[in-house]
Amino acid sequence: MTHRIVVIPGDGIGQEVIPAAQAVLEALGLPLVFQAAQAGFGTFKQYGDALPRETLALCADSDAVLFGATGSPMTKVDGYRSPILGLRRYFDLYANLRPVVHNGIDMLIVRENTEGLYSGRERTEDAGRVAIAERVITEAASERIVRTACEHALRRNSRLTIVHKANVLKETCGLFRRVAFAVAEDYSALEVNELLVDTAAMRLVQQPEAFDVIVTTNLFGDILSDLAAGLAGGLGLAPSGNVGAGKPAVFEPVHGSAPDIAGQGIADPRAAILSAAMLLDQIDYREPAGRVARITRATPHNGSTQATTQAIIRQL
Ligand code: NAI
Ligand code: MG
Repeated sequence: MTHRIVVIPGDGIGQEVIPAAQAVLEALGLPLVFQAAQAGFGTFKQYGDALPRETLALCADSDAVLFGATGSPMTKVDGYRSPILGLRRYFDLYANLRPVVHNGIDMLIVRENTEGLYSGRERTEDAGRVAIAERVITEAASERIVRTACEHALRRNSRLTIVHKANVLKETCGLFRRVAFAVAEDYSALEVNELLVDTAAMRLVQQPEAFDVIVTTNLFGDILSDLAAGLAGGLGLAPSGNVGAGKPAVFEPVHGSAPDIAGQGIADPRAAILSAAMLLDQIDYREPAGRVARITRATPHNGSTQATTQAIIRQL
């Protein structure tokens, strides 16, 4: 069966690392069909839309999406909205998967992607002297993210750590914790435990090899997953997936568009290639996915995007 893959390089080094990742996928000789699509700040400047309808339509018609990075301006630009946030919302990609593998560390952080402190409910009061963000946690979103984490734990080392701060955030984290333990009851094969988020941060630094699957809410997951990526080789080796209930899932390196090195041919392509490996796993090419990931992690980046990519392809 042929799978349709949409590739969206985006801005900056996305234009360099995504073609590299596509070259690796092509070298496998699998029945994959690639379709290029546009998104990002460059697309916005050209067409007035960072995530054109044509791109959404191509994605909707695909089995999976490989996304590079987009460069967002620091200040608000009228009409510009981050395309990756747009894709997550449009396809309801509620789970952010962040595998971290390095020197005995082998964990998967499963981060809720749609609510929490990133619900976008912010306002000011008292003439701008007070700023308030609402943290929204729902049973439905908590249930589906924990179920996703449990399913992954079953395929891995069967250990699940629920991370929260229910001792302080009694309502929001309290709800997440209650739902998480209730869902985990359906998975008797799993060893389930919990950690407060601050303790989890310390343990991740002191004993990262003790973790298998971590599930947590949006902001905590954002921070902990970057911390874990920092422990495991940094941005050059950090892939991610955005997964929902249906198709397509969107895979992207954790790093951004790296404007400081864009256009020089020196970007590390391995995070993008590892993201492509996650994509393969998602469409059930598990053996090639594992092979690409193993070889990519074992191949050093020698400072040339092309040379690193060729070295990986040679070993495949
Ligand atoms: P960044 O990840 O683009 O770069 C941070 C530092 O790491 C830079 O010094 C960069 O040169 C280096 N770096 C990143 N990826 C690399 C790679 N593959 N190989 C070698 N070096 C690499 O983050 P930064 O600088 O904070 O943001 C730059 C732009 O990217 C901003 O416009 C930001 O909004 C956007 N961004 C987009 C993301 C996305 O599309 N999902 C995620 C993070 C940032
Ligand atoms: Mg982040």
